[in-house]
Amino acid sequence: MQKLSLDIPGKQYPIIIDQEAFNLAEIRSRLTAQKVMLVSDEHVAPLYLEPLRTELDGFEVHECVIAAGENHKNTHSWQKILNALAAHGFNRSDVLVAVGGGIVCDITGFAAASWMRGVDFVQVPTSLLAQIDASVGGKTGVNHAAGKNLIGAFHQPRAVLINIATLQTLPAREFNAGIGEAIKYAGINQPEFFTWLHDNRMAIKQQNKDALQHLISACCRFKAEIVRDDEKEQGVRALLNLGHTFGHAIENVSDYRYLHGEAVALGLVMAADLSVRLGHAEPELKAQFVELIEAFDLPHLLPNNYSPEQLLNAMRLDKKVQSGQHRLILMRGMGRAFVANDIAEKVIIETIRACSEGDSHDS
Ligand SMILES: NC(=O)c1ccc[n+]([C@@H]2O[C@H](COP(=O)([O-])OP(=O)(O)OC[C@H]3O[C@@H](n4cnc5c(N)ncnc54)[C@H](O)[C@@H]3O)[C@@H](O)[C@H]2O)c1
Repeated sequence: MQKLSLDIPGKQYPIIIDQEAFNLAEIRSRLTAQKVMLVSDEHVAPLYLEPLRTELDGFEVHECVIAAGENHKNTHSWQKILNALAAHGFNRSDVLVAVGGGIVCDITGFAAASWMRGVDFVQVPTSLLAQIDASVGGKTGVNHAAGKNLIGAFHQPRAVLINIATLQTLPAREFNAGIGEAIKYAGINQPEFFTWLHDNRMAIKQQNKDALQHLISACCRFKAEIVRDDEKEQGVRALLNLGHTFGHAIENVSDYRYLHGEAVALGLVMAADLSVRLGHAEPELKAQFVELIEAFDLPHLLPNNYSPEQLLNAMRLDKKVQSGQHRLILMRGMGRAFVANDIAEKVIIETIRACSEGDSHDS
């Protein structure tokens, strides 16, 4: 068992990483709740709710199971959780426990943020993406038809409990998608981590336990440091959006045919291309991303059925567009991300073309 900590003043909480167990013992004494609402989705609930129930003896335990998939990350699923809380008389001293991927973590967190103006919740992430990113840092929310995560709140969990063994049941495509977010940290400020990912790609793909432990703890630490310095994204936390403005637009125009981590991987290639195109970085940067992204069977080219204009339209709706100006996270090299303001749409279109099937010769 490994214990990390996220240290926001007044809101410190543990991130517990275990190879085999849901380590509730670590936080039981800190939960004063009578009632616990286990929230999960239709894939994860049959696998993991029963063992968690056993760990929660002594509490009055209820369950709420939502539909799986990004198309269900909406106010309807959020409302379903609120209805369950209302039906069982949950009050401010009770607690929600999110058991699932990033979608369950985000929706449950938002339900906890909004029920009675804020109740406690615990994250039990079961996908790689949720274990290395979504469960940590307190960004909660749901999608709106107009775009990703447009409705939400900052609300920190009481604890994050990671059981690495849950990855054994995660489909391979979902596992690889999680790596998209891991590569992001390398691009932001962890160039040595890029080398580690590259050198250990086979061990990671084979789900070697030590490699996974290192991967998950390193990513949680990277994220915890950034969130500690900027909880509400007034400054450095914006760097965590590397690859995400492109990524969210790709998810949106494809009607979520791309998994979030896949869209982020492709978004990283686009961010690297744009960085090179604008003269901030050497061409080698894009090649580095493409090679690692391909090694994890992630996409690095956009199919031609989405036009650059469609993608640009979706980007205009992103939360990071300020006063109509495109504000993107770019890189001066591996691990040297920065906020770039006022980027001309013409160059963004060139990048999208260069990262699209059939046009990649332009890169
Ligand atoms: N809040 C944040 O800071 C943050 C950060 C990154 C991503 N996100 C959000 O996370 C979401 C993506 O998360 P995700 O990739 O985990 O997607 P997801 O929640 O859809 O989970 C992936 C799929 O795998 C299934 N699954 C999860 N764990 C499983 C397991 N152990 N065994 C079998 N099946 C399992 C789920 O049912 C789902 O079908 C996006 O909505 C994204 O916006 C949030």
